[in-house]
Amino acid sequence: MVKVLAFSGSTRNGSYNQALVENAAEAAKAAGAEVTVISLADYAMPIFNEDEESEYGMPERAQAFKQLLIDHDAFLIASPEYNSSYPALLKNAIDWASRKTSDDEPMLAAYKDKVIGLMAASPGGLGGMRVLAVLRMLLQNIMSVVIPLQVSVANAADKFDDNGKLTDETARKQLTNLTKQLVSMAQKLNAG
Ligand SMILES: Cc1cc2nc3c(=O)[nH]c(=O)nc-3n(C[C@H](O)[C@H](O)[C@H](O)COP(=O)(O)O)c2cc1C
Repeated sequence: MVKVLAFSGSTRNGSYNQALVENAAEAAKAAGAEVTVISLADYAMPIFNEDEESEYGMPERAQAFKQLLIDHDAFLIASPEYNSSYPALLKNAIDWASRKTSDDEPMLAAYKDKVIGLMAASPGGLGGMRVLAVLRMLLQNIMSVVIPLQVSVANAADKFDDNGKLTDETARKQLTNLTKQLVSMAQKLNAG
């Protein structure tokens, strides 16, 4: 069974992106995956600094996050768009997990051949379309396989109910298609 790790780039209370990734997690389960949903709030890590890394090594929570990435075949990531790009929170976690903790560890072990489905939600009209482009580029550059489908939810304040359920039928259908493609691509890559 394909193992999917689902997380968002926001730790805000009531985050639209965390709600979106939780809806996507349900869709991925329906598509046949085993899904683990996390919040980056539980993996708080300092802003990356090479000097501190040399002196103290990788912080425990960064190691735990990296290990989760290693242990899963595929990721579902929903990211806020901050000034047209990804939030520092998400980039910092990605950066920490890109670092080796021993000389014999392969390069980019947390990312190589991982299959990733991207999403964004924004209260604005563009739905975070711009962050999807830069996040796709970033993740492909660190050896991940970002699937062609992606989902952006515009006017997000009107698209979730009080329990965080995505109520927009078009967006729900898009999550179904995204997660089906994610699971199918991960199965093919694992089989190869
Ligand atoms: C520093 C900052 C920059 C932002 N820039 C953008 C932007 O470029 N595009 C956009 O659609 N929303 C932008 N927003 C609004 C976010 O989309 C909004 O805060 C959203 O709710 C964040 O996602 P979350 O609900 O998952 O926390 C920005 C918000 C902040 C705090």
